[in-house]
Amino acid sequence: DKGGYKHFMAKEIAEQPTVLQGALAHYINAEGTNVTLPDPGLDFAKVERLTMVACGTAYLACMVAKYWFEQIAGLPVEVDVASEFRYREPPVTPGTVALFVSQSGETADTLAALRYMEGKAAKIVSVVNVPESSIARESDLPLPILAGTEIGVASTKAFTCQLTTLAILALKAAHERGKISSTELADKLSNLRALPGILNLALGIEERSSQIAAKLAEARDILFLGRGAMYPLAHEGALKLKEISYIHAEAYASGELKHGPIALVDQHVPVIVMAPTDALFDKTISNMQEVMARGGKVLLITDQQGAKIAGEGVWDTLIMPQIDPFLAPILYAVPAQLLAYHTAIAKGTDVDQPRNLAKSVTVE
Ligand code: F6R
Repeated sequence: DKGGYKHFMAKEIAEQPTVLQGALAHYINAEGTNVTLPDPGLDFAKVERLTMVACGTAYLACMVAKYWFEQIAGLPVEVDVASEFRYREPPVTPGTVALFVSQSGETADTLAALRYMEGKAAKIVSVVNVPESSIARESDLPLPILAGTEIGVASTKAFTCQLTTLAILALKAAHERGKISSTELADKLSNLRALPGILNLALGIEERSSQIAAKLAEARDILFLGRGAMYPLAHEGALKLKEISYIHAEAYASGELKHGPIALVDQHVPVIVMAPTDALFDKTISNMQEVMARGGKVLLITDQQGAKIAGEGVWDTLIMPQIDPFLAPILYAVPAQLLAYHTAIAKGTDVDQPRNLAKSVTVE
């Protein structure tokens, strides 16, 4: 049942504030001061290394989480796509915790990677949407993301719920490793609890997204740029767009642009810059100006403050609510989803059942 929406994808995008609220209530105590995990949980003080493995959008959630775990918890993290990890057969050092992220919990490569880690990792944790799935059943600590059934082939609400669960884990790790105090933990958790309201506000960009999408639909190639934890979000934007609109899209770390891809830039290539105001904002904006100097059409996705600093000359701007930079990757999933959705609508492609794709990839 599409609940009055034209597509499951639209319904699932709109459901995000509600399902996120459920995930937050599941993992944060009623006082809002601490993280609650099932027993036996995970003592991050004893973890020496975190190895995260997944495919597709779930892999991009792991990429974001790498920035979080490293920056706030000081925990070394390795992230890999499951199809590479399983055949590379990497050595596993003692004290390594393996973490698998999967919406379906049945992705063949991710499951094989999990089985490779059995008996090698100190603990196997999974972040899954389907609690009775193989990946959940075969882990020591399965953590549900509580997104509810996701039907649209392009993952939306599962991605934001994966990120939310991983953000909570990273905060728990930071606290247990002595990197943040109990007060700082409670502050960050309180910011997280404000997220459903902010996501609701963010859904208000729908109309603007559809206007911009009408222009994007004309393009043959589109570039996405981001820096720090927004770099994986650039990848998510490109992946969503490719999947459902069939427009060729690529993501680059903003700083990589001048090492090759800037050669692609001309007036026919829209460049989507995902840049909330954060510590790296000025650097991203200077990369954006390099694109504009070469005639590139920049769509800047930022907040009010960022738009002011960036100044004139951009092709278009999409204004997002102001947010704690730590949580920006969760919020900026919304414009990635809405731009892809409306570009696909403008092109008339099948949003919920894109060609050549299956919801659950149970063969390698
Ligand atoms: C993209 C998408 C896929 C999945 C990937 C992993 O929108 O849905 O890239 O994220 O196939 O699937 P799960 O999470 O079920 O392991």
